[in-house]
Amino acid sequence: MAAGKLMKVFVTRRIPQEGMKILSSAADCEVSLWDSDEPVPKAELLKSVQGAHGLLCLLTDKIDAEVLDAAGPNLKVISTLSVGFDHLALDEIKKRGIRLGYTPDVLTDATAELTVALLLATARRLPEGVEEVKNGGWSAWKPLWLCGYGLSGSTVGVIGLGRIGMAIAQRLMPFGVKRLLYSGRTAKPHAAEVNGEFVPIDTLVSESDFIVVSCSLTPETQGLCNKAMFSKMKNTAVFINSSRGAVVNQEDLYEALSSGQIAAAGLDVTTPEPLPTNHPLLKLKNCVVLPHIGSATYSTRGVMSVLAAQNLLGGLQGTDMPSELSL
Ligand code: NDP
Ligand code: DGY
Repeated sequence: MAAGKLMKVFVTRRIPQEGMKILSSAADCEVSLWDSDEPVPKAELLKSVQGAHGLLCLLTDKIDAEVLDAAGPNLKVISTLSVGFDHLALDEIKKRGIRLGYTPDVLTDATAELTVALLLATARRLPEGVEEVKNGGWSAWKPLWLCGYGLSGSTVGVIGLGRIGMAIAQRLMPFGVKRLLYSGRTAKPHAAEVNGEFVPIDTLVSESDFIVVSCSLTPETQGLCNKAMFSKMKNTAVFINSSRGAVVNQEDLYEALSSGQIAAAGLDVTTPEPLPTNHPLLKLKNCVVLPHIGSATYSTRGVMSVLAAQNLLGGLQGTDMPSELSL
């Protein structure tokens, strides 16, 4: 880069000011922004990314060969404001020698906390209860009304005991969980901290009272939670997903919930997002759907934006990126 020449950066959305400040004060950068809370339309992205040296994107932006071609050969670094990177064409990024930053760790606590909240809300039927209070359905205290499932003495199965899966397990154990099963590609030494038992996924789904999905979305995990899997679960099982919607076959989940094959499901992630308001899953009382808010605390989003900005600048300057994904 010739001295004095500005590097062009495109940011695909309004992001927290903490991160934006870092980018705006970088002397060698010319920052442009899709100045909206809504996703940038593809045509606009293709136009705005032209000639960019750096791209700060979100999980709603599909960064594929078309976008990378539109950016052209200047593009040195992509920084995503997310830990998930299933929206990025990694092979195309690698082929072009582009560096990639993401935001692991800083959102682990917030996402684990939300997942536990979703599990409790689903298992103890909180949205149904709130609704009954409002609509007059609460006539008296009744021994058999709005009963759910408790964690004490239960078996919890975590699919994907990574950073977030482990943080979920750590938060659930103090509720009196008796057994913590987990599955994934490899056994995890850190599982000892929660007495985690590494088991085949079939064992996990058939023995668990609560099944929590916290794996990354990959070609192997796409559609992993399907009819065959639901059919092995207990009729009292509570199924929770805070990873990515595409890990679940939603038609099969609907069938499992409406037929009583499983007791309830809580989803922070769906396919598509947003889930259409007339989607069959939204008609079920035993399905709690949240709008992908796992990492949504003010401080977490602020820290994510700082990390994403630092990753971007590191990539532009050819120095260390605090969280670089090795491709
Ligand atoms: P990690 O990389 O630490 O964990 C991912 C886990 O997925 C690993 O334990 C890995 O296990 C497991 N995994 C990969 N392939 C498989 C497989 N075939 N079967 C079972 N498990 C598998 O990532 P994080 O914990 O930081 O994040 C996990 C995911 O959570 C993100 O990729 C993202 O999609 C989602 N997320 C959602 C949020 C929300 O708002 N709802 C917020 C943040 C993240 P192994 O090492 O054995 O392969
Ligand atoms: C991620 O980071 O991948 C989440 O889905 C949003 O924070």
